[in-house]
Amino acid sequence: MSAAKSTSSAWQKYLMIPKLVRLSRRAPKDRHKAWDKYWAGISTTGPGGEVLWDSGSDHEFLGYKDTLLRHLDPALPVVDIGCGHGSFTRALAGIFPRVIGVDVSPHAVARAAAEPQGTGNTTYEARDMTAAGAGAALAESIQAAADGANVFIRGVLHVLDPAHQVALVENLLQLAGRRGTVFMAETNFHGNPVEYVSHLGASTRGIPAPLELAIRGLPMPGHFGPAERERAFPASDWELLEDGQVAIETNPVTGVPGQDRVPGYYAVVRPRH
Ligand SMILES: C[S@@+](CC[C@H](N)C(=O)[O-])C[C@H]1O[C@@H](n2cnc3c(N)ncnc32)[C@H](O)[C@@H]1O
Repeated sequence: MSAAKSTSSAWQKYLMIPKLVRLSRRAPKDRHKAWDKYWAGISTTGPGGEVLWDSGSDHEFLGYKDTLLRHLDPALPVVDIGCGHGSFTRALAGIFPRVIGVDVSPHAVARAAAEPQGTGNTTYEARDMTAAGAGAALAESIQAAADGANVFIRGVLHVLDPAHQVALVENLLQLAGRRGTVFMAETNFHGNPVEYVSHLGASTRGIPAPLELAIRGLPMPGHFGPAERERAFPASDWELLEDGQVAIETNPVTGVPGQDRVPGYYAVVRPRH
């Protein structure tokens, strides 16, 4: 390909901007309402389903399994924060005795509870984990106030603005208590929104349906990597046990190899006492 031609195709994706603006203008401004409306409209999950961040496979989770088993005390419950339709909640229930999925969206929680559970050790609860006191209230409600609970959180911090990240982490500190550990995995894509949606398969020819549903209904995500983790989980309160790069696996909507994998970041942290 000539240099001029490759430059013009690199810029072509920016022709999507008017369409992206038109679609995203319809998203409710209230983030919690946006999430609940999104989940209310989801009718299919798993392979070939409508959820953008659902790969329909346990491959990504299996990549986390050894790390989780190495750091999380199995005597404590595991809370999947921002569990969505619960695919990771159910995977966690395959390796830990008691798992609780929590999400701000009542429709997400209803959807998660309605999916085939496999094991009988999962429960779900609707709760805004950025609200003041939510961590202590949740610890109380799951009877984890004495020792604390472990936390699994995937794909949630990067959808919150910095102030809400700090509010959520304050709650995680309360929830983790004396013995709990927090595992996080987040997308950490460095590029502008057009580059991000292009990576996920959008082009001037069309936008895959699960991606369009997300653009239409949800706040624009950011990215979450080491710098964001250091800010949200200050070293004065949290000890970093392990971190590194991961691939966050999404819905393989285009079938193009690699397009369904988003560069990501994982970390394991524990409250300092
Ligand atoms: C990108 S989805 C990830 C869902 C799930 N963790 C997964 O990986 O399949 C983000 C989830 O965070 C939830 N969420 C957003 N803000 C929240 C909050 N303040 N408290 C609890 N959950 C929240 C959303 O409803 C949504 O289900």
